[in-house]
Amino acid sequence: MKSLLFSISPFIFVVLFALSWATSAYADESFLDCLSLHSKDYSSISKVVYTQNNSSYSSVLESTIRNFRFTAPTTPKPLVIVTPLDVSHIQATIYCSRKHGLQIRTRSGGHDFEGLSYVSEVPFVIVDMVNLRSVDIDVKNRVAWVQSGAVLGELYYKIAATSNTLAFPAGLCPTVGIGGYLSGGGYGILFRKYGLATDNVIDAQLVDVNGRVLDRKSMGEDLFWAIRGGGGGSFGIVVAWKVQLVSVPATMTVFSINKTLEQNATKLVHRWQSVAPKLPDGFYSGVTLTRVNSSQDGKKTILASFHSSFLGGIDELVPLMQERFPELGLVREDCIEMSWIESILYMGQLSNETLDILLDRTFQSPLLSPSFKSKSDYVKKPIPEIAFQGLWSKLFEEEARFASLSFIAYGGIMDE
Ligand SMILES: Cc1cc2nc3c(=O)[nH]c(=O)nc-3n(C[C@H](O)[C@H](O)[C@H](O)COP(=O)(O)OP(=O)(O)OC[C@H]3O[C@@H](n4cnc5c(N)ncnc54)[C@H](O)[C@@H]3O)c2cc1C
Ligand SMILES: *[C@@H]1O[C@H](CO)[C@@H](O)[C@H](O)[C@H]1NC(C)=O
Ligand SMILES: *[C@@H]1O[C@H](CO)[C@@H](O)[C@H](O)[C@H]1NC(C)=O
Ligand SMILES: *[C@@H]1O[C@H](CO)[C@@H](O)[C@H](O)[C@H]1NC(C)=O
Ligand SMILES: *[C@@H]1O[C@H](CO)[C@@H](O)[C@H](O)[C@H]1NC(C)=O
Ligand SMILES: *[C@@H]1O[C@H](CO)[C@@H](O)[C@H](O)[C@H]1NC(C)=O
Ligand SMILES: *[C@@H]1O[C@H](CO)[C@@H](O)[C@H](O)[C@H]1NC(C)=O
Repeated sequence: MKSLLFSISPFIFVVLFALSWATSAYADESFLDCLSLHSKDYSSISKVVYTQNNSSYSSVLESTIRNFRFTAPTTPKPLVIVTPLDVSHIQATIYCSRKHGLQIRTRSGGHDFEGLSYVSEVPFVIVDMVNLRSVDIDVKNRVAWVQSGAVLGELYYKIAATSNTLAFPAGLCPTVGIGGYLSGGGYGILFRKYGLATDNVIDAQLVDVNGRVLDRKSMGEDLFWAIRGGGGGSFGIVVAWKVQLVSVPATMTVFSINKTLEQNATKLVHRWQSVAPKLPDGFYSGVTLTRVNSSQDGKKTILASFHSSFLGGIDELVPLMQERFPELGLVREDCIEMSWIESILYMGQLSNETLDILLDRTFQSPLLSPSFKSKSDYVKKPIPEIAFQGLWSKLFEEEARFASLSFIAYGGIMDE
């Protein structure tokens, strides 16, 4: 009984509070007044505060909503959006949000699977990092300072513009934000050799709940550990990250091989589970399973798309695959040699684009459906063939017509 009361009363409080906030101009103004009083320079913060009656409010809000499940009119909307230009704007927003009992949602690239960077059930303010997206590369020391509002593509583009043998081990969708990506760990095509992206973070600048600006030394190793993988939005607002760049050969190799059920996909996918995690560290290996209509008879089948990248040339890759995974039947003609940055486009299904696509924050990646639900898990022992057959019949159900499954091999340094 007691615990029931305890769990109900905060809920009632929240609802009342939301109503009073929404109907009272006074509360609205006092939050804005607070921002102006607590900014070093009011004229600058006033240019980056969007209230609900500002004509740009919707376009700023929707600019990085990457999942249309969260664009409905019924999706809770922020009372205010702040797009800080510097740390003092973040500090003022944290101070005033606390003072007025508002929750903060921090948004970098907006790719959160559940929209957590821009949706909340309690009255809230969005701190959108879009204006804090500088990327400063120090080639000599092989490090970079990257602000959270940059997207992966911007970091990649700048690295490639400086060197063709430096890289950063991160993911394939170029519009994913640095802020959320590094906060959650971050896997990508180089992770079997260099670990998660966040393993390559060596310093950070964080604004904490009290508005203090901390670096690695002043936050201490525990907090520094937590912000690298403990999940975004939990420990403060990370403004920037210092990352270690890694070495890649000037020439890499990629391939993609498709097999349907009629081409023994079930056996191959089953076998892949044992082969792929044991490949040398220079390999990235994934397989994506979708339902398609057979090009032969138009009947439903499963397409297993095996895709890999490798830190080396074709001459090294082909014999290795023929030895480790002869059933796949890889031949030279399936392989393409290219630079690391080209492999990012290839693996992200952007082969037909120029590098400029990496700087386009608004384009819709082919990897991303406009409206999606995504879940992940670890497969700790190989799934038996019969279980794959069960999965196929699930994928053949009508409501699964747009579903897909992606397997990504760990192993390499990830086993350590
Ligand atoms: C199409 C697509 C492809 C993806 N590919 C990969 C992949 O290859 N590898 C991989 O590891 N992941 C991948 N992801 C998952 C992605 O890394 C996470 O969803 C990540 O959190 C997105 O970061 P974001 O900044 O774009 O998202 P946001 O929605 O802006 O933020 C995500 C979370 O981090 C918090 N946050 C954002 N910025 C900050 C900040 N500056 N300080 C503190 N907290 C912050 C937010 O509040 C939220 O909780 C992919 C996601 C999508 C949609
Ligand atoms: C909307 O907000 C922006 C940023 O604060 C400001 O520059 C602009 O003048 C506002 N527009 C209106 C119509 O209030
Ligand atoms: C928003 O509209 C309300 C009344 O509808 C007004 O009182 C308030 O000043 C407006 N705020 C801004 C920032 O324009
Ligand atoms: C394999 O199938 C995928 C998805 O249909 C497609 O994008 C890719 O180009 C195909 N690859 C090859 C080598 O045919
Ligand atoms: C499927 O595998 C069997 C052996 O298990 C083999 O005989 C057959 O040629 C394979 N089919 C294709 C299309 O590769
Ligand atoms: C696959 O076939 C079904 C009917 O057999 C059809 O409705 C559907 O549009 C086809 N899908 C594609 C992608 O061609
Ligand atoms: C690349 O292909 C996609 C989809 O097929 C298309 O929308 C896009 O315009 C193409 N881009 C270029 C530069 O040709």
